[in-house]
This record gives sequence, structure tokens and C-alpha cells, in this order.
Amino acid sequence: MFEYLKNAAWRLTWAPGRIPDLSGRVYVVTGGNSGLGFEICRELALHGATVVMAGRNKEKCCNAIGEIAKERPSGTLRFMHVELASLKSVRAFADEFLATQLPLHGLICNAGVGLPKQSHTEDGFETTVGINFYSHFYLAHLLLDKLKASAPSRVVFMSSAEESRGFVPWDDMKGVNVEKSDFTWYGSANLWKLMAAKELAERLHGTGVEVFAVQPGMSRTDFFSKMDYSQTESTTHNKMQQLGGQPASRGAISALFAATEPSLAGGAGCEGRSGAYFGPYYFRLPNWFSAHFPFTFNLGQTMKLQPANSLARDPDARRRLYETVADALEETLHGPLPARLPPPAPADAAADMAAAVAGAGEGQTAVL
Ligand SMILES: NC(=O)c1ccc[n+]([C@@H]2O[C@H](COP(=O)([O-])OP(=O)(O)OC[C@H]3O[C@@H](n4cnc5c(N)ncnc54)[C@H](OP(=O)(O)O)[C@@H]3O)[C@@H](O)[C@H]2O)c1
Repeated sequence: MFEYLKNAAWRLTWAPGRIPDLSGRVYVVTGGNSGLGFEICRELALHGATVVMAGRNKEKCCNAIGEIAKERPSGTLRFMHVELASLKSVRAFADEFLATQLPLHGLICNAGVGLPKQSHTEDGFETTVGINFYSHFYLAHLLLDKLKASAPSRVVFMSSAEESRGFVPWDDMKGVNVEKSDFTWYGSANLWKLMAAKELAERLHGTGVEVFAVQPGMSRTDFFSKMDYSQTESTTHNKMQQLGGQPASRGAISALFAATEPSLAGGAGCEGRSGAYFGPYYFRLPNWFSAHFPFTFNLGQTMKLQPANSLARDPDARRRLYETVADALEETLHGPLPARLPPPAPADAAADMAAAVAGAGEGQTAVL
């Protein structure tokens, strides 16, 4: 009991001050020039890491690097161009990074958009899933050998509570024919990230590459203000985000925790492990109290969560998603997906099935 409470207190109060010295560690952060990505780059550099800020706008990224440099970080930051709406650009980024001969200890798949209107990337993917999901899935595979060679290393996928409204159009994974006019594709990209993170964690078991998913909780960034204001929903979201959102520095904590916390590797003090999903847990007062005091309390940023969407808790669906996504990429690339991983070993699959049965129907519950 004492151990449990000690762990709970430790988890609830986790803050970037607990990040260890990251000298000699190298991280790639997509979308690092603003919002959560900026705060992630900032903290990593302040703790001594070499950070590659991967972004589509050189000026914005260099300004962001200049801002962080004012704090005289012990680590270093550099910009590398990537346009995540283009697989060609993702490939060019990976080639440029690999040419540096740097090791890679963390890939933080943070960049994202939430476009309420449907459009398509140059590769034919629905734009929101193309940028938020496919490009990161592809990038992770392009850098997988480097991550393995640099192990212990981690991949962190930034997801969102919007995963709950995500869906998987199994026969149309590029989103060519499925018309959705609201944030459903955004929810889907976040659902797919959760599913892929868990699946990658299992397929990479034993390689020293750990994979996590996180969600930040609503945070005050430019995210919704970049949207088309003719859409009522994006305007509402923007107002909610600016009024009720937490500072971006707090929203970044779950990703920083997943990327750097040593005990997630299976040590003492924390029972987390590769494949886990971390983020804020919103505690609501029970029944009578919540009717009279309708407040929710954000309990820390590093709680272990269960996905709300049942697809993310279904091992068969996750396995199918990995294969279907890899197939869609191979079809688009007209060639094999680099480092495509085989399904997990049967022993891992059985353990996973038992965990899924134990957690079935849980929704988003906190596990300390
Ligand atoms: N803020 C929240 O409340 C919240 C909640 C849940 C999840 N999230 C997730 O957190 C992540 C970061 O969002 P944020 O809130 O920090 O928003 P943000 O400030 O708008 O940051 C998004 C980042 O992604 C980059 N990006 C967008 N499209 C890109 C592309 N095609 N190629 C390369 N980079 C691209 C942006 O670059 P530009 O500056 O050039 O546009 C920016 O650096 C997103 O994945 C989002 O889904 C946020």
C-alpha cells in the first residue's frame, strides 16, 4: 500500500526537473517550432541533448531555436527541413539525418494538423491522416535501423483524447472515398497512432527500441487558430483551447516523460513499459457531488491511460492496422517499406490477449 501511494505521488508530481542529464543523447522532434513541440525541444536541449528540430518552415524553426538559445541550454539544436504532407520530403529528411552519422535515441512524432475540411496530400492520402499519421509511421521505419543501432532508444507518438471518435476504413486506408467533414479524420489519425505505437512496441520487443503514445490534454497553442474559421467546430475548439487550455509547457510533460524517464525501461518506481499510453487523467467527482460541483481535476500529466476507443484495445485490429497501413505505403511508394516488421512472437501475442481481456471495456482509466 505504501509503495502504491509512493508511486502515485511520484507520478502525480513528475515534472521536467526530473529529466536526467541527456548529454550525448540525440532526439528528433517533428513540429518543434511551436506549441508543444517547442516546449519539448526546449526541455531536451536544456537538459543537454542534441535536438534536431524537424519542421516545414525554416524561418519559424530558426526563430524558435534562437528563442531557446537565449536560455543558454547545455545541449544543441539544429534545424532540418521536412514537409510531412509529402513522403518524398520525409524520405529526404531521413536521408539528411542519416548522413550526419549522429546516433538517434528518441524520435518524437509530434507535428500535426486538424483540418475540418477534407483534402488530399500529393501522395493521395487524406491530408490530416497523411501528415499526422502516415508520415510519422514512414519516418519511424526509415529511422528504425538507426534507432536499433543507438538502443536504448524510444519513439513517442503524440496522440489526443480525440482518438475516441476515430475509425478505420479498412477498404480505403488512404481516405480517398470516405467523406468526413469534421474532425473525424483527426480522431482517426490519433487512434491509428495509438494502435501503431502499441503494435510497434510489440514488434520491436527485445530490440532496445521502446515505443510510447501520449496525449497532452488541452493546451494553449496555435493549433486550432490555424484552422478555417468558417467551421463552427474549429472556432469553438479554439475558444475552448485559449480559455480552458493549460500552458503548452504543461501539455509537453507527457511526451517528455515518455521520451526520457529512465524507469519506464522497467526499473523501480514506475511500472510503465514499452507500448504504454500516458497523459492526464481527468478525475470527476462521483454522482451526487458531480451534479452539484461539476468540476474535473487534471491529475498530473503522466498517468498510464487506457485508450477510449475499443479498436486500440483490440490486438487483432492493431495487427491488421499495421499490415494494412504498411501495404498502403508500399503501394504508394511502389516498393517495400524499409524495415517492415514481422508480427510479434506468439508468446507476446498471448500475453497481449490476456491484457486486452483484463482491460476490456475500461475506457480511459488511470493506472498508477
Ligand atoms: N494543443 C492541444 O490542445 C492538443 C491536444 C491534443 C493533441 N495535440 C497534438 O499535439 C501536437 C502538437 O500540436 P500543438 O498543439 O503544439 O499545435 P501547433 O503549435 O500548431 O504545432 C503543430 C506543429 O506541427 C507542424 N506541422 C503541421 N503540419 C506540418 C507539415 N505538413 N509538415 C511539417 N510540420 C508540420 C507545425 O508547423 P508550422 O508552425 O509550420 O505550421 C507546428 O510546428 C499535434 O499532433 C496535436 O494533434 C494537441
